[in-house]
Amino acid sequence: MLTLRHKGYCALNLVTQLLTPPAASLGPVTAEESRLLEKLDLTRLPRHIAVIMDGNGRWAQKRHLPRVAGHSSGTQSARITIETCARLHIEALTLYAFSVENWRRPKAEIEFLMQLLREYLRKEMPLLQKNNIRIRFLGRPEDLPPGVQKDTREATEATSNNTGMILSIALNYGGRAEIVDAMNSILAERTSSGRSLDRQPVDPSSGLEPSAPITEDEISRHLYTANLPDPDLLIRTSGEMRVSNFLLWQIAYAEIFVTETLWPDFNRARLLEALLDYQKRERRYGAITTPTSAAR
Ligand code: FPP
Repeated sequence: MLTLRHKGYCALNLVTQLLTPPAASLGPVTAEESRLLEKLDLTRLPRHIAVIMDGNGRWAQKRHLPRVAGHSSGTQSARITIETCARLHIEALTLYAFSVENWRRPKAEIEFLMQLLREYLRKEMPLLQKNNIRIRFLGRPEDLPPGVQKDTREATEATSNNTGMILSIALNYGGRAEIVDAMNSILAERTSSGRSLDRQPVDPSSGLEPSAPITEDEISRHLYTANLPDPDLLIRTSGEMRVSNFLLWQIAYAEIFVTETLWPDFNRARLLEALLDYQKRERRYGAITTPTSAAR
């Protein structure tokens, strides 16, 4: 008998949720997944999961395939992760698809990745819609090929009325670039709203003198992730112990889970393992566990 703890939920419900259309593409729950699901506490899932999808090239290399075959295969892992998170009612999922540093890769690989993303958006749109997912893109769109800009705009628009999980794809994204963009946006907002008579302030900080101190809250509100909770869990595949310029501001208190699994091998069982590992962590945000331990 499965013993999941959650008000209004039981394991059977969850398994049914994971299986019934529109998530039928996920396939039946395996014995391993059932065992992992039994241990999962649905009342303590992360609100926001961020993923560094690494190891596509190594996965392909191990199979004597071109690197791009790893990227193609990685789209399956992305689909499984997206659908499973949506089914678990995770509020936000952010996937690192292309960094500002990735322009240093061979031109052919970059073109392949851009094309793969366009195909992915075209193919997966019905599934995103059926799962009530809102998609958005984090990064600097202006440097992307015009076709990619158009497709990402259209995908954002087409899912904007959905009310379920927010799926953010980091595309031409850099954590430092994001902070720079936030600072410039604050500066622009302060100077324009301070001087223009016809512009309504867009948030409480608008209208502040340019020299007024900047607060953490103000920076958060100007990041690409404004209105999203900070990630509680950062998953990185393929074993590297780096954050690679990903969500630098937002992961201040995230729990980090690094798995040796290469991204194309990442599946529902590996995701459930990451969630179980997260549930073992004690999140203290710089505080101490018991008030008395400070006196010892
Ligand atoms: C890192 O592996 C992966 C990428 C730079 C691209 C990630 C893209 C996908 C998984 C496919 C598209 C995703 C979506 C959401 C449609 P790597 O090439 O650095 O691998 P390596 O470290 O083994 O060389």
